Amino acid sequence: MSIRRRTPVTEQTVASSGPQPPNPEPPTEEFSLRPPKRGLILSVLALFFIPFFYMLFVYYPIENDLRRSISIGVAMSLGGLVITVRLIPVAARYLLRRNLFGYDINKRGTSQGSVKVPETLGIVTAIVFLVVAIVLQQCNLTADSEWLVEYNAALACICFMTLLGFVDDVLDIPWRVKLVLPTFASLPLLMAYAGHTSIIIPKPLVPYVGLSVLDLGLIYKVYMIMLVVFCTNSINIHAGLNGLEVGQTVVISFAVLIHNLMQIGASTDFDYKQAHAFSIYIVLPLLTTSLGLLAFNWYPSSVFVGDTYTYFAGMSLAVVGILGHFSETLLLFFLPQVLNFLYSCPQLFHFVPCPRHRLPRFDPQTGLLTGTNDMNLVNLFLRLFGRCTEKALCIRLLIFQA
Ligand code: UD1
Ligand code: MG
Repeated sequence: MSIRRRTPVTEQTVASSGPQPPNPEPPTEEFSLRPPKRGLILSVLALFFIPFFYMLFVYYPIENDLRRSISIGVAMSLGGLVITVRLIPVAARYLLRRNLFGYDINKRGTSQGSVKVPETLGIVTAIVFLVVAIVLQQCNLTADSEWLVEYNAALACICFMTLLGFVDDVLDIPWRVKLVLPTFASLPLLMAYAGHTSIIIPKPLVPYVGLSVLDLGLIYKVYMIMLVVFCTNSINIHAGLNGLEVGQTVVISFAVLIHNLMQIGASTDFDYKQAHAFSIYIVLPLLTTSLGLLAFNWYPSSVFVGDTYTYFAGMSLAVVGILGHFSETLLLFFLPQVLNFLYSCPQLFHFVPCPRHRLPRFDPQTGLLTGTNDMNLVNLFLRLFGRCTEKALCIRLLIFQA
């Protein structure tokens, strides 16, 4: 396959019908893709990993064993990044051949708006992630590790969710069905979960409740399902701008990574540290493989991520929060998604009409986006802070996330 540098995918290069140029190449050979944004990858890596390594090797007195395991995780995850970047152009060609593409709605009215953009490239990220996570497990967990059951259950959930996301991308499932898909995918974790099911009662309430810790039992598992459903769908509905789905995941993953390291550094309890190390082994490959996808999905997108990616990313973050025992903190990192979800509720539950796409209005003359009355953060930001380009809006939303 030829990847032509700086040549955008155009309608002509991918169309199978319409007027053909003289001596047309076979359709699969004609597909061309912009090169990945290597500068973006390198800047984000430097921005993230310099403070990360400083905390790991200098700031916190962490045991050498754990430092070694985490470093192995970093090395393998960087390998995953390289593989993702190499595989995406190949997969994009195959997906396009099977008619899995979308039109870039925020470029409608320009030549870029009629380009078939390969969709569902999240499948590459998810597969590379799973491979890295499984190999990492072989390196860092022994065969008799008590963590193995939960680690495998977590991977089964992520794998199941990816499958359902892919089914959604191929079959275009109705919205009400989409909402409940993550419930099924969370089953492996629910069955395997052997962690605590209790919550700590805030001190001022202890005299009234008569307990300092309340065991929720089955209700805790219902809470876990709700968390999974929320994480997966909330990333999926905070979307529609080039780079936003992946960008938010990268920011949240980094926050989770640093949070885990801080918890490990501040604790002396072995189990507690293990729980957070466990989170790191999942979130590291999530971060790097997502970065590989971002290099193609950043404005102007040469590929779309599909619901395969949003569901995969949401599920990965949810299992990390549940098994690392910091789901409340995780919700704090999901603050923009919580706000977006609450603001979206009237449309999601059809009290207010909800169109298929709740995207801004694009003005081809100026190249700027204008907010519509649709109830989501993307439109709210445009209404509050004025019209801007798609890229500027995505950056504003990611800064808000950070
Ligand atoms: C969710 C949102 C929908 C939003 C869509 C965009 C809700 C209830 N649903 O729907 O409002 O429009 O995500 O992803 O909030 N697309 C672009 N530019 C991008 C990314 C996607 O134009 O940067 C378009 C493409 O045509 C692509 C399509 O969105 O094919 C993908 O939409 P899909 O992920 O299937 O939408 P939903 O997740 O159902
Ligand atoms: Mg989507």
